Amino acid sequence: MGRAFVYVILGGGVSAGYAALEFVKRGVLNGELCIISDEPVAPYERPALSKGFLLPEAAARLPSFHTCVGANEERLTPKWYKEHGVELVLGTEVKSADVKRKTLLTATGETISYKFLIVATGARALKLEEFGVSGSDAENVCYLRNIADANRLVNAIQSSPGGNAVVIGGGYVGMECAASLVINKINVTMVFPEAHCMARLFTPKIASYYEEYYKSRGVNFVKGTVLSSFDFDSDGKVTAVDLRDGSKLSVDMVVVGIGIRPNTSLFEGQLTLEKGGIKVNGMLQSSNSSVYAIGDVAAFPVKAFAETRRLEHVDSARKSAKHAVSAIMEPDKTGEFDYLPFFYSRVFTLSWQFYGDNIGEVVYYGDLSDSSTFGAYWVSKGHLVGAFLEGGTKEEYEAIAKATRVRPAIEDLTELERQGLGFAVTV
Ligand code: FDA
Ligand code: NAD
Repeated sequence: MGRAFVYVILGGGVSAGYAALEFVKRGVLNGELCIISDEPVAPYERPALSKGFLLPEAAARLPSFHTCVGANEERLTPKWYKEHGVELVLGTEVKSADVKRKTLLTATGETISYKFLIVATGARALKLEEFGVSGSDAENVCYLRNIADANRLVNAIQSSPGGNAVVIGGGYVGMECAASLVINKINVTMVFPEAHCMARLFTPKIASYYEEYYKSRGVNFVKGTVLSSFDFDSDGKVTAVDLRDGSKLSVDMVVVGIGIRPNTSLFEGQLTLEKGGIKVNGMLQSSNSSVYAIGDVAAFPVKAFAETRRLEHVDSARKSAKHAVSAIMEPDKTGEFDYLPFFYSRVFTLSWQFYGDNIGEVVYYGDLSDSSTFGAYWVSKGHLVGAFLEGGTKEEYEAIAKATRVRPAIEDLTELERQGLGFAVTV
């Protein structure tokens, strides 16, 4: 059996939802567009899973955070897809793809053919097993990538009132989940191999501000080591984590956030891959001209850095989706994707934004020791290339975004430090 569509979006996450909205805005006809997702629900704003979804009271639940509410756009419920003639094939994994024949084969045995395919398969969470630790399928060990994981995490939280959690990993999932666990009155110890949290982005100085804040909320840090094994009770629940430094931590639950791998396996040997993702050009088009890739799985040229990058953040998922649809439907009117990387996080009452690249020399502004508004600039080859701000206003965030996009020449780092945030405001 089989069905044919003009446009198929493979994957039903953030970028799929934003692509669907763009297709509808540009006027696809009834029955031309199909989304295939192995998740049982329509596309939703994944960032909610480590934030509002984990709140002890008034927690966010679907349908409140379907895409595209995260960008103050229309909320696309299953009814919306129906009303706009978009076919939603949910709970259905695509098992293989044939880009020469332009077909996808689903786990239910259906062949779906396309004229244009948008690959929006995102990424999967890395498992501890991939680092030689076994037992991470125990019921009180939680990963966090999708709604099913988030429900499991909520169950673990509710089964551990006032208990102890170990959070493995000091990246985004680790930091955001640790904060949510504290809000749920769970005692948290964070364990990660680096010397400080958020090592991919933060400098030691920025990291220390957040670590001190977390400590003031009761979080313990065990840095520079990794987990070596779990201890289990007779029901198969984890009771303790053993660390490579020889120490043991008793636990009621464990949260693991040790990075991701893009879901490219369907296309290995068929499309050119780079940086772990599907390599695309400035039109988000892969090495096969009928196949586009967006979101976490796409490695695209970032003009400002003159380099191909793969980004793992919601803003690039949303904007790459929109651009790919424009490139497919109006190729002559669509230029190259010109994207300024933008990352953010919100934990407790803290909130930061980062634009650009974190390379070169770092110039701090504001008082990191006793201020709630502070930040940093990155200067490389005489130009401002990156900016970070904690606790800014909407206008201040817009100012650092604009300054980073303009990339002004910086001759005197001391003068930049003296002007601080004021520099961005005047660019
Ligand atoms: P996404 O993962 O959203 O969607 C991929 C979809 O494809 C999924 O539905 C998946 O099931 C499906 N799929 C994969 N293979 C398939 C197959 N073979 N067949 C069928 N379906 C398949 N970013 C940020 O900037 N700020 C933030 O605060 C956060 N917060 C955050 C919290 C948590 C818990 C996570 C996990 C992630 C974030 N992020 C974030 C990152 C952000 O959510 C991420 O960059 C986007 O979801 C990427 O969107 P994609 O559409 O590329 O993948
Ligand atoms: P990450 O890449 O942010 O962090 C991974 C962390 O894993 C590292 O910081 C390191 O501390 C740790 N680690 C690596 N190897 C380890 C090992 N062997 N043992 C213990 N720890 C180890 O990845 P993540 O935190 O898992 O986040 C997953 C994805 O979700 C990322 O793509 C991230 O961008 C996205 N996300 C983004 C946000 C946001 O932008 N606010 C929020 C949540 C999730």
